[in-house]
Amino acid sequence: MRTHYCGELSAALVDRNVTLCGWAHRRRDHGGIIFVDLRDREGLAQVVFDPDRPDAFAVAERVRSEFVLRITGRVRRRPEGTVNPDLRSGEVEVLAQDVEILNPSVPPPFQLDDENLTETTRLTYRVLDLRRAPMQKNLRLRYRVAMAVRDYLDAHGFIDIETPMLTRSTPEGARDYLVPSRVHPGEFFALPQSPQLFKQLLMVAGFDRYYQIVKCFRDEDLRADRQPEFTQIDVETSFLDETEIQALMEGMVRDVFRDVLGVELPEPFPRLTYAEAMARYGSDKPDLRVPLELTELTDLMKTAEFKVFRQAADLPGGRVAALKVSADLSRKEIDDYTGFVTNYGAKGLAYIKVNPDGLQSPIVKFLSREILDAIVDRTGARPGDVIFFGADKAKVVNDSLGALRAKLGHDKGLVANDWRPLWVVDFPMFEWDEEGKRWGAMHHPFTSPKDGHEDLLASDPGKALSKGYDIVLNGWEIGGGSVRIHRADVQAKVFRALGISDEEARAKFGFLLDNLQFGAPPHGGIAFGLDRLVALMAGAESIRDVIAFPKTQRAQDLLVQAPGPVDEKQLRELGLRLREKPKA
Ligand code: AMO
Ligand code: AMP
Repeated sequence: MRTHYCGELSAALVDRNVTLCGWAHRRRDHGGIIFVDLRDREGLAQVVFDPDRPDAFAVAERVRSEFVLRITGRVRRRPEGTVNPDLRSGEVEVLAQDVEILNPSVPPPFQLDDENLTETTRLTYRVLDLRRAPMQKNLRLRYRVAMAVRDYLDAHGFIDIETPMLTRSTPEGARDYLVPSRVHPGEFFALPQSPQLFKQLLMVAGFDRYYQIVKCFRDEDLRADRQPEFTQIDVETSFLDETEIQALMEGMVRDVFRDVLGVELPEPFPRLTYAEAMARYGSDKPDLRVPLELTELTDLMKTAEFKVFRQAADLPGGRVAALKVSADLSRKEIDDYTGFVTNYGAKGLAYIKVNPDGLQSPIVKFLSREILDAIVDRTGARPGDVIFFGADKAKVVNDSLGALRAKLGHDKGLVANDWRPLWVVDFPMFEWDEEGKRWGAMHHPFTSPKDGHEDLLASDPGKALSKGYDIVLNGWEIGGGSVRIHRADVQAKVFRALGISDEEARAKFGFLLDNLQFGAPPHGGIAFGLDRLVALMAGAESIRDVIAFPKTQRAQDLLVQAPGPVDEKQLRELGLRLREKPKA
């Protein structure tokens, strides 16, 4: 039907006859002459209708936004002064000889180039939203990333093996999406939160290097970087240790950035231990583009007179830390930041302003000269700086100052325009679950303890470190993985530390434990969040902008109106009765 894509037209085609197909992006009637910007997936072309061709002109008068057109005409240079440098085809236009309306369109509910659409509008009319250039660009970028990933993994001997979608509960710690079984009334499949156990079984089965670009399902609270249904680049290998797996995987990320964006990432990626990351950034996914760090003050404050600081320093698991920023902050800004940290559980945000004539703060009177000198010395504060303080349980201090660090970085324009990947390693095996009063797995229960830490599993679980690792880019966790446990005795110790009884372990994971006994090789792997990786590369704020048909924050698909009610007959077949009627 066509000879060229609209966006491909260029000065090289001047005087050629072309046929284009696409959508009427904009129509401008300049009294006696009509311009139509015709759009297809490659971009826009300006088409001119003049009254010398009365038939084509008459059709052009009927054209409205989003009509589908087929246009034949001659390419010519645009007149001096009307060249559009923002368009690939901006040097030329097409003088139309013929136009055919292939399909009219009802008036679209919004102008496609409107930049202030609400997300509800965009998701309800997702098909029109996807016609817009940024979305076309994002989904193509996503495809190119996936292709680069497949190329790399294929070249390194990985094979793509599919794993079931109808399966049983997997151990990633979120709520499951369940699917009732008709054949076995009262029984349910779970959709996989990840292919974790299957990929381990594939290692036992001798495949050595597996990957899959695969949907995962987690019923959890949604945020900009979380969807109930998302995509992992899932990888597992045998006979490699954690540093070898990391080297292989960062090679993939480097290749993807080089192929798709032409960006060279550092080699190797820097590594931080979890403990270092928390100490210096208050976060296990620090944005290294922000040049601010926390300063440890816990030891210093054990002797402080200021009660808030001394009590936190004396608390088991307490922390006092400072965050220095070289920026002149107003009283109002400081008040706003104080409000901000309360979102993270902080009870206040003490601060000291370093003025040329001395320290200014409501708390200096509670601190001795020696302590004040030490604070200035450790933070390296200079006149004009502000020092913020957090004093509480370490988690509260880390969460609040870690978030404040990122916020100050953005507010004060300190974020470098750069790509800053890193590995975070040496994660603790367990984290204390305050509600359940028990230890939970920091990664998942199949993560191997670090060499030499096996005995700590029973004696001091909080101190045991794992062979788990995360890959972080510009403040986003883009992937996580670990070396797995391949020996039944170690697995039993971990279950015991987690308070999982032998019976419970057998009931939940018997198929894995049994198969680990058939000569499971040492193995490990990782999963990347493809949506997050692509969102970062696209400069998108939410992963919804790189997913064709995403769900809202309330886990709904506004386009197809899912989830939705089902009829009584379907329920009966499944052996289900509803406790609550769905809201009409
Ligand atoms: P994990 O749970 O860390 O590990 O998930 C791996 C990566 O997947 C991405 N991710 C998500 N992206 C969007 N929406 C979500 N709801 C969501 N949840 C996770 C993140 C994360 O780093 N089986 C293990 C991996 C392994 O050990 O090999 C796993 O699933 O980028
Ligand atoms: P107060 O003694 O409660 O009036 O607090 C004095 C200063 O310390 C105020 O600036 C508070 O914002 C701050 N502050 C109070 N509690 C904490 C805390 N846990 N961590 C950091 N600063 C705090």
